[in-house]
Amino acid sequence: MPLRICFAASEIAPLAKTGGLADVASALPRYLHRAGHDVRLFMPLYSSIGTASLNLQPVDAVQNGELRLGPHTYWFSLSKGELPGTQMPVYLVHCPQVFDRASLYTNGPDEHLRFLVLQRAILDSCQRLGFAPQIMHCNDWHTALLPVLLKSLYAWDRLFEPTRTVMSIHNIGYQGDFPSSTIYDVGGNLYSLLAPETGAGHFNWMREGVRHADRVTTVSPTYAQEICTPEGAHGLLDALRARTDGVVGILNGVDYGEWNPATDRYLKHHFDPQDLSGKQRTKDALLDWFNLPRHADRPLLGIVSRMTSQKGFDLLFDVLPEFLISRNLSLAVLGSGEPRYEDFFALLQQRFPERVSFTRGYNDEVAHLIEAASDMFLMPSMYEPCGLNQMYSLKYGTVPIVRRTGGLADSVQMWDGATRQGTGIVFNNFDVQGIRWALHTALDLFQDQDAWLQMMLNGMAQDFSWDAQGQKYEALYEETLRLR
Ligand code: ADP
Ligand code: GLC
Repeated sequence: MPLRICFAASEIAPLAKTGGLADVASALPRYLHRAGHDVRLFMPLYSSIGTASLNLQPVDAVQNGELRLGPHTYWFSLSKGELPGTQMPVYLVHCPQVFDRASLYTNGPDEHLRFLVLQRAILDSCQRLGFAPQIMHCNDWHTALLPVLLKSLYAWDRLFEPTRTVMSIHNIGYQGDFPSSTIYDVGGNLYSLLAPETGAGHFNWMREGVRHADRVTTVSPTYAQEICTPEGAHGLLDALRARTDGVVGILNGVDYGEWNPATDRYLKHHFDPQDLSGKQRTKDALLDWFNLPRHADRPLLGIVSRMTSQKGFDLLFDVLPEFLISRNLSLAVLGSGEPRYEDFFALLQQRFPERVSFTRGYNDEVAHLIEAASDMFLMPSMYEPCGLNQMYSLKYGTVPIVRRTGGLADSVQMWDGATRQGTGIVFNNFDVQGIRWALHTALDLFQDQDAWLQMMLNGMAQDFSWDAQGQKYEALYEETLRLR
C-alpha cells in the first residue's frame, strides 16, 4: 500500500553532503518513490546549495512563517524542488539567519537553534500543506526531536494522528548534546517528557529520539548490536536498553546509479567484470595526474574519508611510513577534517613524493577516481555504523581492507585461499598489530595474480542495491503503522 512519508535530514545528496548520511537520505527515498510511495523530503536551504537544477518554486502556503523559539524569533519560507533525476519533491527550509553559514554544521552557540528551526519548520509546513504523513522518518540528532515535538507542541493537531515516527541512527558518536537551558528554546510543555538526565545539565537530542520514536533503526545489523553494549552506546545504553522492541539494524544500500564503474560519469575508461582493462587505464591516468610513477607490480592503496578519530587513522601514524619504506605500494588519499590527520597525510606526501598523493578537501570527482583506480581501499575504522566506501570499492574491483566492526563486518568477507571465497581483508583488533597484519596480507596476496583477480571478481559480484534494503524499510514502516 502506498504510504505518505515525510523524510527529514540535515543533508541530502547531491544538494548538500559531508558524508554517508547524504547518500542514504537521497538513495533510500529514491527507492521508496520508485516503489510508489508519496515521499516528501525536507532539509535546510543552505546557502551553498546550487538551486539551478532543482526547478525551485516558492510554496505559497508557507511564506513568512514565524517561529518563536524561547526569546528568539525566526522567519522561514518553504521552497519546493525536485531531487535531481526524479520527480520526487524536496522541500527546502529557507531561513538565511541560520542557514547562510560557511559550512553545513557549526560549533556556534546557536547550533541547536538552527536545527530546531528546521524541525519546527517541517511540522509547521506539514500543517500548512495539509500533509499528514503516516511515517515521519528522522535521521540522526538534527531531526531527532521530531517525535517528542509531535507528542508535545503538536499533540493538539489531529492532522498528525496517523503519524508514526522512525528514527535512524547513522552515527551515535554525534548526539546533539546541549545544555539543559536550551530546553526553553524549544518551548511548549516539553519538560515532563524529557529524560531525567536533562536535570543534570544535558538536553541530549539523540537520547530523546531513542526514547520517543515509535521505532529506532540503525544502519547495519552489527552496529545495532554494538550500540547496545557499554562500549558502543556512547552514553545512551540505558535509553537503548529500555526499548523492549530493540534497535533494528538494516544495512545501507548503494546507489549503483551513482557508483558503477560501467557507467560512472567521472570515468573516461569504464569497466566491468568481463573487461577490466578500463580499470588499469584509470589507474595509469590517475597516477599521471597525481605525478606518481607507474610500476606494473606496485599496488595503489586508496583512502577517501572524513578525517576524524572514528575512522581509525591513529593506527596509521607509525604504520604507513614503515610500509612506505619497506614495501612496494603507493597511496592516494582524499579527505578533510581534524588538522592532525590532514597534517599527517600532508607530511607523508612531502616525505614520500614518489609514493604518496594527498588531496585535502572535499571533491566528488576525485572520490570516484580514487575508488576506480585503486587496487585496495583502506578503512581501519575504530567504529563504523555502516560505511559506504567499502561497498563502492567492492563494485569497482578495489579490494577493501577493513576492521571487523559495524557495517564493515556485515559487508566484507575475509578472503579464504582454500575455498577462494571472500571479498577483502578483514582484521579484528583495533591496534597496530592488526593493521600491520592486514596490510602485509593484502600486499602479499596482490603478488598472487590469480587469487587477487578472484577476490576482485567476488567483490564485483556482490549486490548491495537499495532494492533489497529498501524493502526492509517498507516492511518496518508497515509494522510501525500497526503500533499503538
Ligand atoms: P561517513 O558518513 O561516516 O563519512 P560513509 O562511508 O558512510 O562514512 O560515507 C562517506 C561518503 O562521503 C562516501 O560517499 C564518500 O565517498 C564521501 N566522502 C568522504 N570524504 C570525502 C571527500 N573528502 N571528498 C568527496 N567525498 C567524500
Ligand atoms: C554515518 C556513519 C557511516 C554510515 C553513514 C550513512 O555518517 O559514520 O558509517 O555509512 O552515516 O548511514
